[in-house]
Amino acid sequence: MRTLRVKASKTYDIYIADNLLSSAGDYIRQIAGGKTAALVTDDLVDQLYSQMVEESLANSGYRVVKFVIANGERSKNAENYLLLLNFLAGNKLTRSDVVVALGGGVVGDLAGFAASTYLRGVRLVQLPTTLLAAVDASVGGKTAINLNTGKNQAGTFYQPDLVLSDYSTFKTLKQSVFQDGCAEIIKYGMIAEAMLFGMLKEPLWPQMEEIIYRCLSIKSDIVAQDERDRGQRQLLNFGHTIGHSIEACSNYTITHGSAVAIGMVIITRAAVKLGHCGDNCLNEVSDLITNVGLPVTSPYTAAQLFECAVSDKKLRGENITIVVPEAIGQCVLKEISMSELRHLIELGISN
Ligand SMILES: NC(=O)c1ccc[n+]([C@@H]2O[C@H](COP(=O)([O-])OP(=O)(O)OC[C@H]3O[C@@H](n4cnc5c(N)ncnc54)[C@H](O)[C@@H]3O)[C@@H](O)[C@H]2O)c1
Ligand SMILES: [Zn+2]
Repeated sequence: MRTLRVKASKTYDIYIADNLLSSAGDYIRQIAGGKTAALVTDDLVDQLYSQMVEESLANSGYRVVKFVIANGERSKNAENYLLLLNFLAGNKLTRSDVVVALGGGVVGDLAGFAASTYLRGVRLVQLPTTLLAAVDASVGGKTAINLNTGKNQAGTFYQPDLVLSDYSTFKTLKQSVFQDGCAEIIKYGMIAEAMLFGMLKEPLWPQMEEIIYRCLSIKSDIVAQDERDRGQRQLLNFGHTIGHSIEACSNYTITHGSAVAIGMVIITRAAVKLGHCGDNCLNEVSDLITNVGLPVTSPYTAAQLFECAVSDKKLRGENITIVVPEAIGQCVLKEISMSELRHLIELGISN
């Protein structure tokens, strides 16, 4: 087991091991009193892991109430958010009770947003069950739902009180969902720790604990310095500006991890052409992305991507901050205009 302490506006612990869910109740009892635990999950994860968590919570003296959403990004919506708030109120959760998010980033973001606003904030525990949620979404306190006009347009900064990362749950992931998580690991490798590139070339299972630990060490250091995303935290958006526009262009049929993978290749190719980094950077990142089974080419033209970037972010006329690679393990933030963004996308798409 590896543990990490995050020191942001809230100080909290992350436990990383392969058998945590069955003792989730014990860990949660240590940080939260209260009588009721509201378990939030999706229908797929519910069938696989809820029972184990419910039993453990009950053994630790909690009354468990459960809210289940349909799996998938579309569930991260305002309707489910309100249903969940009313569910918490209907079950008379008090400020000493706890919301437990069991699932991937969709469940974590929705449950986190509800926990942060119900009674102006109740305790929140994240039990990530996807690689992406374990290395990224469950830590750092960004909560969100999507609005009709775009992704993550309503949300809060609200740190969890505890994160239990039980990576034995990854064994039941669809391969494509597992691969999505690899995109975020490559992101961490690119912005901060080249060694993650080497680790991703070896069999992953024996290194899982170490990989999650390294990714979350990077994220928690950054979050401790810039919780509200005004400076260094934006490094975590490497590949994401173009990635988000790919997601938007596809009407969210291309997953986040695949879109970010393509986004990382496009921005790195543009950076090579502009002399910010060497050819080897592009070769290494695109080889690794291909090796983990993720895509490297955009199904959309530069013009389409630019249009989606503009409408996704409602950015017309404004400058944006993008993350530019200088070497594997080193990136810098750069503020650019929208016309420079258009140019970057054009450079990054063409060979
Ligand atoms: N808050 C943040 O900082 C942050 C960071 C990155 C991404 N996100 C958000 O996270 C979401 C993506 O997260 P995700 O990739 O985990 O997607 P997800 O939550 O939709 O999960 C992907 C699929 O895997 C299934 N699943 C989950 N765990 C499983 C398991 N152990 N076995 C079998 N199936 C399982 C789910 O039911 C779902 O169908 C996006 O909404 C994104 O915006 C948030
Ligand atoms: Zn991401």
